[in-house]
Amino acid sequence: MLGVCYYPEHWDEARWTEDARRMVELGISFVRIGEFAWSRLEPARDAFDFGWLDRSMDILAKAGLKIVLGTPTATPPKWLVDEHPDILPYDEEGKVRGFGSRRHYTFSSETWWRESARIVEIVAARYGNHPGLVGWQTDNEYGCHDTTVSWGAEDLKSFKRWLRLRYQSTDQLNEAWGSVFWSMELKSFDEVMLPNLTVTEPNPATRLDFWRFQSDQVAAYDKMQCEIIRKHSPERWITHNFMGFVSDFDHFKVGDNLDLASWDSYPIGFVEKFPFSEDERNRWAETSHPDIAPYHHDLYRAVGKGRFWVMEQQPGPVNWAPWNPVPKPGMVRLWTFEALAHGADVVSYFRWRQAPFAQEQMHAGLNLAGLDELSPGGIEAKQVAEELKALGPLPETDKASVALVFDYQSYWSTMIQPQGKDFRYEELCFRWYEGLRRLGLDIDFVRPGASLEGYALVVVPCMTEVDTATQSALEKATGHVLIGARTGSRDRNFVIPTNLPPGPLGEQTGNRVIQVSTLRPGLSDAVSGSVSGAGIRWREYLETSATVLARFANGDPALTEKDRMLYLACWADETLLASVLTLAAEKAGLQTMPVPDHIRIRRRGDLTFAFNYGSEDWTVPAGAQLALGEGVLKPQAVSAWR
Ligand code: GAL
Repeated sequence: MLGVCYYPEHWDEARWTEDARRMVELGISFVRIGEFAWSRLEPARDAFDFGWLDRSMDILAKAGLKIVLGTPTATPPKWLVDEHPDILPYDEEGKVRGFGSRRHYTFSSETWWRESARIVEIVAARYGNHPGLVGWQTDNEYGCHDTTVSWGAEDLKSFKRWLRLRYQSTDQLNEAWGSVFWSMELKSFDEVMLPNLTVTEPNPATRLDFWRFQSDQVAAYDKMQCEIIRKHSPERWITHNFMGFVSDFDHFKVGDNLDLASWDSYPIGFVEKFPFSEDERNRWAETSHPDIAPYHHDLYRAVGKGRFWVMEQQPGPVNWAPWNPVPKPGMVRLWTFEALAHGADVVSYFRWRQAPFAQEQMHAGLNLAGLDELSPGGIEAKQVAEELKALGPLPETDKASVALVFDYQSYWSTMIQPQGKDFRYEELCFRWYEGLRRLGLDIDFVRPGASLEGYALVVVPCMTEVDTATQSALEKATGHVLIGARTGSRDRNFVIPTNLPPGPLGEQTGNRVIQVSTLRPGLSDAVSGSVSGAGIRWREYLETSATVLARFANGDPALTEKDRMLYLACWADETLLASVLTLAAEKAGLQTMPVPDHIRIRRRGDLTFAFNYGSEDWTVPAGAQLALGEGVLKPQAVSAWR
């Protein structure tokens, strides 16, 4: 099903009825509104104006649209900022981040919590049982514009509180952080400082705690909103719209508060955000890379415990990337089907109509700037709506055959201590995901500690701290397991394990990491044996009692196997990665279906979808009983078969 993001407050009231009618005519079922409207709902303290929202919700509901209402906390109004400047966030250099755009608040401010609770309560109480309302969105894109972490006085105050609860005494804190080093010992929690503005690098253990603390705050803040909403609107579901490639906080923990997850899919914008090579950026400039959106669909399906939406789908060029190309004809349609193939319940486009004013005036909508006239993206959305009707209800999404263990904390720890400048956790996970999908495999993301039973293959690209729950899930895994370098390299306090990495997995893998070398761009270490290619960026020196399947040039183990557990002792280049994943899939008994780099396939129940991101045709497997599209998959086309 399809949805759209709509801002009635941006348009003359006289247009609302026609807007709603045209949405329904296009085939839209859901409409998300309200998430930035605080200044219109409460123009001055306690002076509320609900009339316009009442009327617009009534109009939308009357047209048959189902409404998702956002809480307006992403945009605190000017009067509130003036009254309470302590709600403002600070950057790492200690500069205040002021009013004039959005997300100008810190999760640490007690005033901000009080004000958020107040406005959420008022909005939830007023609209919680509106007949047109089906669900809620909390806030908007936590972490967007680098706003998870703030570095001000309020943050320091909350950090101290969090540390006190975690460590009880400064002796324990000093012990955990290894504060004896460089005389960093503290005598009281009052002496704690934020881990910024130091002469050289701050203690990584402090920094990791600071990230854990900020992440906990996001989850707690979201929970506060959810609890208020549930009190007033018990029959409606709650979601949050997460972002792509924002991993500053643990999305799984926020997901625990929600009934379903949603995320905002801007596949072309993300080509500029992800560390692709310039060649790849040029290659995928007008289509996006074929794994960008799917990677997030699969991640957010996990965050939503099986249920997710795309809350904002790119409908044309956006405005916020360094370059913003028009998507190739067919891409808006392709992205929509692709989200559904990965299990989305709803794909909702951002936005109904391009705004001719303000920050996003260069951002496309389903309608041209200011007009009642469909844009090229809007015309594709209409086509999708018709095709979906013909296709009928989509089958349930099955469990995938491969699990990828994704761990936010590993993102923070490797960012805090890269050791090699280009060790980027998210890039690593993405490349493993890409490699598996090039084999035609479906993937489930799995959070640390969750069961891994039933998967033929489990991959752990990197998990710096292997907690006891994950260790036991790995022991109970019923399939083959592939562990990547740097896994188990730190304990809970960011200390190197006494048995050396991979710490808790030492026995299971049969390995001990004696040394680590990080390699500058251009340097590599050849690998040969049952797999071949090269290690780049990160290379471990192992002592092993396991079977060695492949070795580095000097004869050191590169890939080991003990029982059903494989261990890869480096960051693999493209060739080595493909080779290792192929071997792992083979050992796991998986039937692969290798595809060219511009083709991807994905199953949803008994339907298999194929997507063409490139400029060459691809032929669907012989005997496929087509449900959508054609046997020859043209550039930017979609086919589905049973
Ligand atoms: C999202 C955001 C929207 C809009 C959109 C533009 O990050 O949630 O409000 O700004 O980007 O692409």
